[in-house]
Amino acid sequence: MILSLAPMEGLTGHVFRRVHAECFGALDRYYTPFLAPPHVGSAFGKKAAAEIDPESNRGLNVVPQLLTKDAEAFVWAAQLLAEMGYREVNLNLGCPSGTVVAKGKGSGFLRSLKELDVFLDRICAESPLPVSVKTRIGVADDAEYEAILAMYLKHPLAELIVHPRVQKDRYQGAPRQEAYGKTLAVAPFPVAYNGDIFDVEDYEALVATYPATRHVMLGRGILANPALGRMIRGGAAATREELERFHNLLFEAYREEIGGNAVFRMKEWWFYAKCAFTDPLAVHRAVRKARRIDEYQAAVDRVFGTQELADVARFNSQLS
Ligand SMILES: Cc1cc2nc3c(=O)[nH]c(=O)nc-3n(C[C@H](O)[C@H](O)[C@H](O)COP(=O)(O)O)c2cc1C
Repeated sequence: MILSLAPMEGLTGHVFRRVHAECFGALDRYYTPFLAPPHVGSAFGKKAAAEIDPESNRGLNVVPQLLTKDAEAFVWAAQLLAEMGYREVNLNLGCPSGTVVAKGKGSGFLRSLKELDVFLDRICAESPLPVSVKTRIGVADDAEYEAILAMYLKHPLAELIVHPRVQKDRYQGAPRQEAYGKTLAVAPFPVAYNGDIFDVEDYEALVATYPATRHVMLGRGILANPALGRMIRGGAAATREELERFHNLLFEAYREEIGGNAVFRMKEWWFYAKCAFTDPLAVHRAVRKARRIDEYQAAVDRVFGTQELADVARFNSQLS
């Protein structure tokens, strides 16, 4: 089984994946959060360049993800990525954010199937790298997926990663796993599942229902429980020491990268990581007010010194 880390803007960038792999063992594959391709003829911008710098990703199997509806820019970016040694490029057709959708990108591209069909024709023919797609199953209604899937089936995709929600679901409601099952049954190319795999039981239930599953992408589940991949493979849950070491290395690496803003970056991580404790709200209250590095460090020391770890660390979307 291939286990990969989902692309999550602001959360699962190069710092996170390096520290995660060091502390909990590398997953089989890591996807970068979405990158905007540069203008044709230009290099990637500073932030994207740092994300894909081979030096920051050494030893990890990383697939860069692009968010665009401009085929020429996609192909140009794929050329740059091929020159850097990448072996696959992923297209984001899932992002539900209002501003992205309004521009017809991410899941907004699913509204214009004819245009998307032409776009995929072109990038699959001209990209020097195999193209995989991460998709939602529609914009407003899952009935849209029949036409969307029929369109995908015409293209030589390297892989189709299905997050079986529609754009309007955002991250709410149960994923419509049947849409994934249908894709798995009919697609001539590899298919991956993504959505709400938060513990070993969720994983086992998915695989029991769809035994042909070959790739599961984990997102919030790994943020709440960085040992989830290891546990799915039969290994142990994270100990307090492991979790604290992971936190400390992550914080240190973010400080090196972005200085004092590391506190805000870490607070985004705590939104998920608090679920590893029996009293997530107490953890949330302890870290939320910290602004300066010393305040933050004191809050975190209190959390690791006093809060009990939950028996099962599991992301819970109700706790916000
Ligand atoms: C804060 C946040 C940022 C995300 N950023 C991206 C992104 O850059 N590209 C993408 O394809 N999906 C993005 N996603 C979606 C995730 O990759 C994934 O599809 C989603 O979280 C469902 O999987 P999960 O239930 O395992 O978390 C993001 C999700 C969240 C919550």
